[in-house]
Amino acid sequence: MNCAILGYGTVGTGVYKLLTDKEKDIFQKSGSNIRVKWVYDRSFRRIKDYPLPSEVCTKDPDVIFNDPDVHCVIELIGGIEPARTFIFNAIRKGKHVVTANKAVLSASGPEIWKEAESNGVLLGYEASVGGGVPVIKTVKESLVGNRISTIVGIMNGTANYILSRMTKERKDYHEILKDAQRLGYAEADPTFDVEGYDTAHKLAILSMLTFGQKFTQDDIYTEGITRIAPLDIDFAKELGYRVKLLAIGRLNDDGVMLRVHPTMIPDTHLLAQVDGAFNAFYFVGDEIGKMLLYGMGAGQGPTASAVVSDLVDIARLKGHCSMKPLQTKVLSKASLKKVPV
Ligand code: HSE
Repeated sequence: MNCAILGYGTVGTGVYKLLTDKEKDIFQKSGSNIRVKWVYDRSFRRIKDYPLPSEVCTKDPDVIFNDPDVHCVIELIGGIEPARTFIFNAIRKGKHVVTANKAVLSASGPEIWKEAESNGVLLGYEASVGGGVPVIKTVKESLVGNRISTIVGIMNGTANYILSRMTKERKDYHEILKDAQRLGYAEADPTFDVEGYDTAHKLAILSMLTFGQKFTQDDIYTEGITRIAPLDIDFAKELGYRVKLLAIGRLNDDGVMLRVHPTMIPDTHLLAQVDGAFNAFYFVGDEIGKMLLYGMGAGQGPTASAVVSDLVDIARLKGHCSMKPLQTKVLSKASLKKVPV
């Protein structure tokens, strides 16, 4: 399957690197041969991080949309425009789309899904929520037989990283934010992370899938962490609580209530143990009862991993696969005894 990456930033670099370094491994496990034919970027400022062959680079996105040999476009530009226009252009040219863009999906998700459906192409967006945690697949597929009444999540790695370090080190959040940016967790505009908008975008996407209707940002009460002082954290600690930026979605007889705000949770609760750039998603469903997903919600590797999982799904569903047997060596029982567990 031939792909084109739009945007060679942190995630774009990660996806190209993963597909290149693990080409054989991915083929062995999934039977899909995923090749990057083009990479589009306006400036290629990050090309020094992972150099690209010159023949894959283009500064003209139309080269990609007009290439009949490109099966799938991977949108990793972020923000609303030009990402949304590029996604529609790709779909209208009959290309499958994989995106990590929660801003576009929370603003125009239903229109994009409709356009993809009428053009007979697939849309993958696992990387838009939860980084490496397969929360989209869980909601769309694994939990489909449930009436989900509650979603509670820690959905922003940057905010959680800042609050966790404020709890441990009593430092001001501005100081810790710089580290989060250096580590590649934070959005280009960190306001999105610290003011709760990124969390609200993710909650809107999960709620659309869970509760089956479109929600706009106006439907979500949103408050960030910028007004949390070390003193608030100290008081919470003294009372046996941790402060976490939570996304909460609840379905009751009157309707759906959606909100994002710093919350005091008892320090014995599982969500209170989620520290650093980790994300966690807690669901209550009528069949499954309570369920928790936990993992790295941000960063280059986890996000690239989610993008590649969508690519493999599309390759499988659209016949770009030839299943080959796994060639991993099976260890003998005797040698297993020597492997530390
Ligand atoms: N800035 C986001 C976060 C990245 O910190 O969680 C993943 O969406």
